[in-house]
Amino acid sequence: SFLKEIILNGPPGVTLQLMMAVGTAVIGSLQFGYNTGVINAPQKIIEGFLNDTWNNRYSEPIPATSLTTLWSISVAIFSVGGIFGSFSVGLFVNRLGRRNSMLIANVLAFIAAGFMGFSKLAASWEMLIIGRFIVGLYSGLSTGFVPMYVGEIAPTSHRGALGTLHQLGIVIGILMAQVFGMESIMGNSTMWPFLLGLTFIPAVLQCILLPFCPESPRFLLINCNEELKAREVLEKLRGTEEVGADMQEMKEEARQMMREKKVTILELFRSPLYRQPIFIAIMLQLSQQLSGINAVFYYSTRIFEKAGVSQPVYATIGAGVVNTAFTVVSLFVVERAGRRSLHLTGLLGMAFSAVLMTVAMALLDQLPWMSYVSIVAIFSFVAFFEIGPGPIPWFIVAELFSQGPRPSAFAVAGFSNWSANFIVGMTFQYVEQLCGPYVFIIFTVLLLGFFVFTYFMVPETKGRSFDEIAAGFRHDAGEAGEKSAISGS
Ligand code: GLC
Repeated sequence: SFLKEIILNGPPGVTLQLMMAVGTAVIGSLQFGYNTGVINAPQKIIEGFLNDTWNNRYSEPIPATSLTTLWSISVAIFSVGGIFGSFSVGLFVNRLGRRNSMLIANVLAFIAAGFMGFSKLAASWEMLIIGRFIVGLYSGLSTGFVPMYVGEIAPTSHRGALGTLHQLGIVIGILMAQVFGMESIMGNSTMWPFLLGLTFIPAVLQCILLPFCPESPRFLLINCNEELKAREVLEKLRGTEEVGADMQEMKEEARQMMREKKVTILELFRSPLYRQPIFIAIMLQLSQQLSGINAVFYYSTRIFEKAGVSQPVYATIGAGVVNTAFTVVSLFVVERAGRRSLHLTGLLGMAFSAVLMTVAMALLDQLPWMSYVSIVAIFSFVAFFEIGPGPIPWFIVAELFSQGPRPSAFAVAGFSNWSANFIVGMTFQYVEQLCGPYVFIIFTVLLLGFFVFTYFMVPETKGRSFDEIAAGFRHDAGEAGEKSAISGS
């Protein structure tokens, strides 16, 4: 009957209001995922458009080098937008609040959809590139806004599971893009502008739903000093009037804030209080991107082709399905197993899969059935990614910092993540030309390095309040003093 209770009412502490707020926020994550995955399948088709446009302008077919350059720019400009967007998170969240920041950002999604959707009609690849940049800006902002908002409204006991919903939104977005991008659906020469322009639909949906979602109670109390409003929101989110403990904890954080006020990005690196958590946050972002995951999500079709797989597009969609399935697995185990052990398991499993992939590619010439091994290797690479390195770095930033430094911390973390994303996306194909089948060995070495780092440096944050986690770092920084007694660390 405990099970019945959970099925009927959700797990204790998870109300309809809370799920509605989280569900609405992660529409932003879906947008990020969709635009990550959308340019993979229709590459050839859109290259045809670039060629036609070039032909019309200059009365000659596009030279191969110009085509490669234009295509690479169209793909990678998205992460450049992401770098700028994520770095600007702090400009919005404290002034407008968390919810209204998410709302305003949709302006970018609409503009981007317009540019991309009408680029063919206007015979302009400039519009395509500008659109990709702007939707990158939007996505960069989302990777700060969404985990921040979700982390701040979630009850401590479900912070990891709800935080993982950000990643679930991303992977569902990627999968939708892969499926819609099939030639028979929208990945063809007439429909591709619509495939890219489709990003306006989630934006409309989010604009309708967000006004019904509450502002983060932490923002209301700690940043605006609106105690009554904060309590009201909290009671709705928790579905009970007994929110005393939560209020108490937020007030404690507010008191702490009086001392530290708003923390700038520079102070994050200067102050001994934050140096350790910001270092951990950056390394976790790097472990996510330098694992090589986006080599798979940007280039999987080509990788499978090289590995001798006969239906590479279906293998790519298979990777998307595995990706989604294992994010769901992580969702269910993250509050039990904890962040640390899942991240460690994921990194080690990915390293192993990367070795398997290398073996499969190296032996392909002698043993043709190695193409099946390469499918298994990529699927397990992706599965282990979603166990930990996918979801955890995004939401752990909210956990590692208290209200004062949180926005700056998200800016730095997002910047690191998107920069590494850009580097992998830009360089993978060149490095692959250099290393051939041994390209995944580079990721293996990096993965093992991040495993060692995580083992020695990353604390467990499961089930601890923001204040307790911050107190743990204060303790480490040698300023234990009055607070360590309260936190018990
Ligand atoms: C994470 C990464 C993103 C990647 C995705 C794959 O969200 O941040 O870059 O594409 O996982 O599932």
